[in-house]
Amino acid sequence: MADEPLVLGIETSCDETGVGIVRGHTLLANTIASSVEEHARYGGVVPEVASRAHLEAMTPTVERALEQAGLRFADIDAIAVTAGPGLAGALLVGVAAAKAYALGLGVPVYGVNHLAAHVAVDQLEHGPLPKPAIAMLVSGGHSSLLLVPDVARDVIPLGSTVDDAAGEAFDKVARVLGLPFPGGPHIDRAAREGSGTAIAFPRGKYDDGTLDFSFSGLKTAVARWVEAREKAGESIHVPDVAASFQEAVVDVLTRKALTACREHGVQDLLIGGGVAANSRLRALAQERCDAAGVRLRVPRPGLCTDNGAMVAALGADLVAAGVTPSALDLPADSSLPVTVVNV
Ligand code: KG4
Ligand code: ZN
Repeated sequence: MADEPLVLGIETSCDETGVGIVRGHTLLANTIASSVEEHARYGGVVPEVASRAHLEAMTPTVERALEQAGLRFADIDAIAVTAGPGLAGALLVGVAAAKAYALGLGVPVYGVNHLAAHVAVDQLEHGPLPKPAIAMLVSGGHSSLLLVPDVARDVIPLGSTVDDAAGEAFDKVARVLGLPFPGGPHIDRAAREGSGTAIAFPRGKYDDGTLDFSFSGLKTAVARWVEAREKAGESIHVPDVAASFQEAVVDVLTRKALTACREHGVQDLLIGGGVAANSRLRALAQERCDAAGVRLRVPRPGLCTDNGAMVAALGADLVAAGVTPSALDLPADSSLPVTVVNV
């Protein structure tokens, strides 16, 4: 609808400079500049390198987004920006840019929560979120189960990882297997040629009665398994290790997500974050949701990984809900709690 707010969203919490433009829940542009290749040789994101890359990419990425949407700066009604959680220096670049654009254009700015934005983005593809929904966010930085009565106002944490995030486990296991960083997509690909039942890896916190996750024991188990074979001079069938590791992760994730739905009497499950791009997670989640009578929503892979459209989508929800914009001195908060949807 033409009277819906036109929101430009800026995301710089990790290694992706993302700029998205939405009108309400309609996606108009989604441009990304990634510094992932600059981090690859370190095997993980280097915060200073990420901050510098954001600084260089910010203006061109905003301009590309406007061009993609066929819009001018004067058309923008509001700016939204990831205020946290994330890397402090990286967040600062986006927040400073957002303030400058808001001030320069004379429009409000909304500092938003990165996790809530991962939830809100699905509406660009599948329409308004059922209220309430259960959301499972699985990325390189977080693994959380959330009860979401209203993504613009109320997000309730149910459980999270007690050690490594799911994506972090994928990245570390990939490294052990000699696969490039970030490892998730490489494990996903390798696993298609292997068997998920070849090796019985441990499933941390499987039956512990909580909605928390633990992946560090699994990661260590894979490393020990590989080490032992190497020491014995045996060859390792990477696809089987990848598939068995992946199966352990997605088995626990889907099991806990459906437990959350059952315990809270919720019939709609949303999965987001970079690991939601995983093909086996998507397949097993669909299978188990079908069996439990739960509707599953997973955004397309390009909207699962960090992007600006997710920030714009949440910004549009905040505008529509009449939430007060942020002050122009809004902070970047690297450890922003998931319960704080906007600052
Ligand atoms: O959401 P995201 O782009 O950034 C963070 O906020 O962390 O997630 C990145 C993570 C990385 O750990 C990456 O390995 C993982 O998502 N990932 C995957 C897949 N694609 C990306 N993990 C498993 N399977 C995939 N297909
Ligand atoms: Zn993320």
